[in-house]
Amino acid sequence: MRRIKLTLLEPGMKIARPVYAGDGRLLLASGLTLTEKFIERLAALGIGSLYIEDVLFPGKLNVRDVVSEKTRSESILLVKECFRNLEKEKNINTWAVRQTVNELADEIFSNRDILINYFDIRTYDDYTFDHSVNVTILSVLAGISLGYNRLDLRELATGALLHDIGKVSVDKKILNKKGKLTPEEFKQIQQHSLAGFEKLRSYYEITTLSSTISYQHHERIDGSGYPRGLKGEEIHEYARIVMVADVFDALTSDRPYRSAYTITEAFGIVKELEPTFDSKSITAVLSNISPYPIGSIVMLNTGQIGQVVDTHKKDPAKPIVRIYFDRDLKYMEFPYEIDIYKSEFDLYIEKSLNDEEIAKLNDEAKFLIRA
Ligand SMILES: [Fe+2]
Repeated sequence: MRRIKLTLLEPGMKIARPVYAGDGRLLLASGLTLTEKFIERLAALGIGSLYIEDVLFPGKLNVRDVVSEKTRSESILLVKECFRNLEKEKNINTWAVRQTVNELADEIFSNRDILINYFDIRTYDDYTFDHSVNVTILSVLAGISLGYNRLDLRELATGALLHDIGKVSVDKKILNKKGKLTPEEFKQIQQHSLAGFEKLRSYYEITTLSSTISYQHHERIDGSGYPRGLKGEEIHEYARIVMVADVFDALTSDRPYRSAYTITEAFGIVKELEPTFDSKSITAVLSNISPYPIGSIVMLNTGQIGQVVDTHKKDPAKPIVRIYFDRDLKYMEFPYEIDIYKSEFDLYIEKSLNDEEIAKLNDEAKFLIRA
């Protein structure tokens, strides 16, 4: 199986992994054959990509998740509920926040040896809620890498999960605007940091440090951020982590004004964010994400092409690859696996193949298989 962009889907392709909506509802079960109508519906739902069965890469994949589908959708629902309550001028249910945060943080802690496979399939409408949960997962893992204890992790998770809650005070039309923002509109968006901080700190159950994440997540180390233009260590460590996680997740998502960057591109961009972002936090966040997620198709420096089937936390750039195409691009009916991390040869991944390159490979290989 293999993940493919929605625009490259064709009727007749078979779904290899179930597709869920942002709230955890099952949209399409695995094994289902796509029709023109299904593809149209997926596009209407804003789904960017999904896993299909592929004759060239027939092996099953064991994608391990840091957070279970159940915990993820419960967390998304909780963020949604917090936003809805504030919109209706009701209170946030801080008891529910605590329950969910504890569950989420503890689950991430017990799965801390797993690298994140950034292969999310998400619906567009739910961006803010889904994004908040992704930012929390990235931040908590970074916190674990930095040696935080469970209490610190929960405090960090609470602030990360609700970091954008101030957006309830911003006009939705501005938030979802496709074109460039006017200075006045940008000013309005900027107000979400302070608005979020003020809302959160009015609850005694939410610590000031958790609330500070909302206040400071758009500050930048060199003082170029907002709302106060704080510099370096004036910005709390929690906020320095969340700002990196926030940018990484935003880059890998489709937005109204641009389509998502690939994981490799996002890695490249985030690595270059110093000195605007904190280097310790950049390293901590990136060390927990697989630059070549399970399922991606990669080319080795030897010219061999294969699919990533597992990853090593010790060296995220050196996964286990199932080789399907030999160095002369001959398709192998009986693929073999190479563990780059353990290999005694000087092996590394040259590049990830994009959907267009894989489609080309497919055409050539199908021709070869037939021949
Ligand atoms: Fe924000």
